[in-house]
Amino acid sequence: MKFYILTLFPEMIEGVLNTSILGRAKNAGCISFEAINIRDYTLDKHKKVDDYPYGGGAGMVMQAQPIYDAYQAVCEKAGHHVKCIYLTPQGQLFTQPAAKSLALEEDICLLCGHYEGIDERVLEEIVDEYYSIGDYVLTGGELPSLVMIDAISRMVPGVLTNSESGEDESLENNLLEYPQYSRPETWNGKQVPTILLSGNHKKVDEWRHEKSIERTKERRPDLYAKFLENEC
Ligand code: ADE
Repeated sequence: MKFYILTLFPEMIEGVLNTSILGRAKNAGCISFEAINIRDYTLDKHKKVDDYPYGGGAGMVMQAQPIYDAYQAVCEKAGHHVKCIYLTPQGQLFTQPAAKSLALEEDICLLCGHYEGIDERVLEEIVDEYYSIGDYVLTGGELPSLVMIDAISRMVPGVLTNSESGEDESLENNLLEYPQYSRPETWNGKQVPTILLSGNHKKVDEWRHEKSIERTKERRPDLYAKFLENEC
């Protein structure tokens, strides 16, 4: 799967995507990414990419032309229409099922805004889907893009090893993960739950499932309500 990221700050993207599991997946050829500097496409002789908003108001607006041309270059390179996603608090909430579904695409293009936003006309022209990563406002679309790329990538076959694999995708059935423990058996006077030392896999699975339910009820009553709905 290939990710194209349209941004004014490609260095913010590259550092993260070359690290850890995503860096490994890239080197193994499971995913690839290309951060494209929108500024490279401006026709303005001073390399300007933003201007004052018509109607007045604070801040600057990213102009249509450089974004449109950068996106056209992406489609030309891919040889087909590439799904364009704009990151904005006004979008639909990005969730685990959305990550799973987007992982089926051959490629996607993530458009990162900055300043007070982007000229609406280019959004109307190129954006297929609007996504938000939560109800708060960030300074730009780069961090949300990275969040989406991370969550989507781990759903792409081959990105996670068997032991890292998302088989236990708790959020898919509206449950949070159970608590985990590692060595030593006693730390700071606290004992690892004895059931986990028993070697009885059936009992361990039952205990973990119970803990998942308990934890979801306590920490995320909204998810717990959905879990109960699905159980019926
Ligand atoms: N851009 C700024 N804030 C954002 C958010 N919460 N989600 C997606 N894009 C954003």
